[in-house]
Amino acid sequence: MAMIVGGVGTSHVPAIGAAIAREQQQSPQWKPFFDAYRPAQTWLEAARPDVAVVFYNDHGLNFFLDAMPTFAVGAAAEYRNADEGWGLPVTPPFAGDPDLSWRLIEALVEDEFDITSCQRMLVDHAFTIPMKLLWPKGPPARVVPIAINTVQHPLPSPARCFGLGQAVGRAIERLDGDDRVVFIGTGGLSHQLDGSRAGFINRPFDQLCLEQIVEEPRCLTHYSVRELVALAGGQGVELLMWLAMRGAVGDRAARVHSHYQVPISNTAAGLLVIEPERFGERPASTSAEAALIDQL
Ligand code: DHB
Ligand code: FE
Repeated sequence: MAMIVGGVGTSHVPAIGAAIAREQQQSPQWKPFFDAYRPAQTWLEAARPDVAVVFYNDHGLNFFLDAMPTFAVGAAAEYRNADEGWGLPVTPPFAGDPDLSWRLIEALVEDEFDITSCQRMLVDHAFTIPMKLLWPKGPPARVVPIAINTVQHPLPSPARCFGLGQAVGRAIERLDGDDRVVFIGTGGLSHQLDGSRAGFINRPFDQLCLEQIVEEPRCLTHYSVRELVALAGGQGVELLMWLAMRGAVGDRAARVHSHYQVPISNTAAGLLVIEPERFGERPASTSAEAALIDQL
């Protein structure tokens, strides 16, 4: 059976990509930010995921206003990056896992998530920057990108994104084979890039999210998208990606590491690493029942 090793939530601000390209990780301005990713990198080295399933939001590179899927699942052999105009170097392609993607897509549709399957999909800064932050020496062997619409309203609700994550987690747990899978959710935390509230950041709300998402994620699923935009800003709605990641990790999770820094560019930058809380062996009664069922 495939194994869920954990989940990571991280911001994906383009300025981070520029700092990496200019090798400014140890500059006084950037050092505290990049140092905060070391524990996440060490944890990933120990967790040894074979596959990263990445919930991210495309910002107009692959999808545009003419055709905007709410949920899009990658089913390509590789995922290319392209110039978005941020001045960032274009990254080499990421290897996909079409077999795993299709099994995921089948499970999601069976679970009544009417997703869009993408056999060709460009990945933008919301995908590439977290990859560089979490795996500076090179990405994991295989990736499956899942894009959630945050560009054109109506957006899916926090509850729906959490439910999508739960469905993805269930599907992964049912997979044959011994793949180790990590879930990544990119974006947020609070920020608004344009309009009359440009520069808006809400520290208390971000801190509440970083607390509640670990042990009480359902508390964050009761907001409407409007409420989330009011509380976190127009682009802070990217918290949806974190909720999908959290749903995928499973019912109970424990915090491994977190960091919060304000601002990185226009954004309150957050990082969270969680692990599924594993229980010991099955209680004896359950094992006995399972053995009986096996015999039937
Ligand atoms: C910024 C943040 C984002 O999430 C993004 O997609 C682009 C820019 C910023 O803070 O500059
Ligand atoms: Fe963004």
